[in-house]
Amino acid sequence: MIRLGVNIDHVATIRNARGENHPDPYKAAEFALKSGASSITIHLREDRRHINDKDLKRISKNKKIPLNLEMAANKKMLKIALNNNPNFVCIVPEKRKEITTEGGLNLKKNKKKIYIILNKLNKKKIRTSLFINPSINDIMISKELGAKCVELHTGKISNLIKKKLNYNDELKKIKNAVIYANKLKIEVHAGHGMDYKTTRVLSKLKGIREFNIGHFIIGESIFFGLKKTIANIKKNIK
Ligand code: PXP
Repeated sequence: MIRLGVNIDHVATIRNARGENHPDPYKAAEFALKSGASSITIHLREDRRHINDKDLKRISKNKKIPLNLEMAANKKMLKIALNNNPNFVCIVPEKRKEITTEGGLNLKKNKKKIYIILNKLNKKKIRTSLFINPSINDIMISKELGAKCVELHTGKISNLIKKKLNYNDELKKIKNAVIYANKLKIEVHAGHGMDYKTTRVLSKLKGIREFNIGHFIIGESIFFGLKKTIANIKKNIK
């Protein structure tokens, strides 16, 4: 079965809309795990638009919460990661003005920086991952840089599926990327924009070990609750 990581950034988005403490992302993390999530993902953005440093500190202190920290590739974030010691780190690209993470990392441009960060995290036994587009070349570079996992950006295929457009070419790209990464013994994850339909399509590919889903799960929970929504996703990825 594919593991499900639940991204709780948007619980913090709702909390921050009022500048108070409710809903509490820490409580959401505990509740998501109780409801069947395998891990919790949070993205500490440079502008702290949702998850903040205090959230990270509180969540990472509870070692019963398997925590995946998404972060930009810079020295400041590396220091924060090393101080908080999450179980997993996924390096993501970050632009101040984007609404959400728009694409995979530009590995060619940031090789040296990413290599140094991965090396430090690997030495601390934090499981490392790179958020990349489904490209053979990027998987090759990920291996070269020492990443233990890659997370394939599923934004494009998710959009095509939602718009009922032909997604065969994108699916083929993802399939080839999964096969190649597995050959190189890199663990494959997938995430971004995923919903019930996308999970159904992608769970048919063999070789993906983890899905990381945020916006859809939190949004759907408004209608059906976190417990039911997580159960529905899990039904799709069996
Ligand atoms: N995986 C990564 C690396 C991400 O950056 C994000 C978005 O923060 C997600 C998964 C979750 O995407 P979504 O909120 O669209 O499900």
